Amino acid sequence: MKFLITAGPTREALDPVRYLTNRSSGRMGYALAGAARHEGHEVLLISGPTTLDIPAGVDFVPVESAQQMYDAVRDLIGGVDIAILCAAVADYRPVAVAEQKIKKHADKLVIELERTPDILGSMRSVFGFTGKLIGFAAETQDVESYAREKLHRKQCDMVVANDVSRADIGFDARENEVLLVFAEHTIPLKKDTKEQVAMRIIEHATIIKP
Ligand code: C5P
Repeated sequence: MKFLITAGPTREALDPVRYLTNRSSGRMGYALAGAARHEGHEVLLISGPTTLDIPAGVDFVPVESAQQMYDAVRDLIGGVDIAILCAAVADYRPVAVAEQKIKKHADKLVIELERTPDILGSMRSVFGFTGKLIGFAAETQDVESYAREKLHRKQCDMVVANDVSRADIGFDARENEVLLVFAEHTIPLKKDTKEQVAMRIIEHATIIKP
């Protein structure tokens, strides 16, 4: 089967030397890409900037901004059987990118932000993707109910949910403890390394029924 996986943070430029980003390390997405490849699948990894090694045998497309990630997914989604959108895409970006480095003058600087395109939310309705769709949900409360609501709203087949209020798992951590949320049921996975959790997610992704 052919997988498309998004990973890592995005960078939203403010000027030639500054950007807005988040704490995503990209580890979960890279572990998913490695696990899918290990199982013999064809893997396309579209990633924001990380310090990680690209898993062997994976087709790699580096991007920086949410818009670049959106464009790459739109252009490369054809022929994909399973899409796992794991990237921590910035929700907002500066409305204007200064052509020159912003100088310090006033005591306060107000930056106007606008929404970035919603890649996961565009998969069915805009890109016409008909394969298996898996999203991630990082929540700090009511993890399962928010994840199930996202599953329906974004027309996913599975949402991988984790509680990002905990420092020991999830964002920028080596381990993760997630819930696999489906329309009718939830499967909790035990806390483990992101590599082991990735293997379980790939197993479940490949057996989702149409
Ligand atoms: O709504 P929320 O941002 O919490 O959804 C998270 C999920 O949506 C993740 O799977 C993430 O990769 C995806 N996402 C996206 N494009 C965005 C924002 C989030 O694909 N602009």
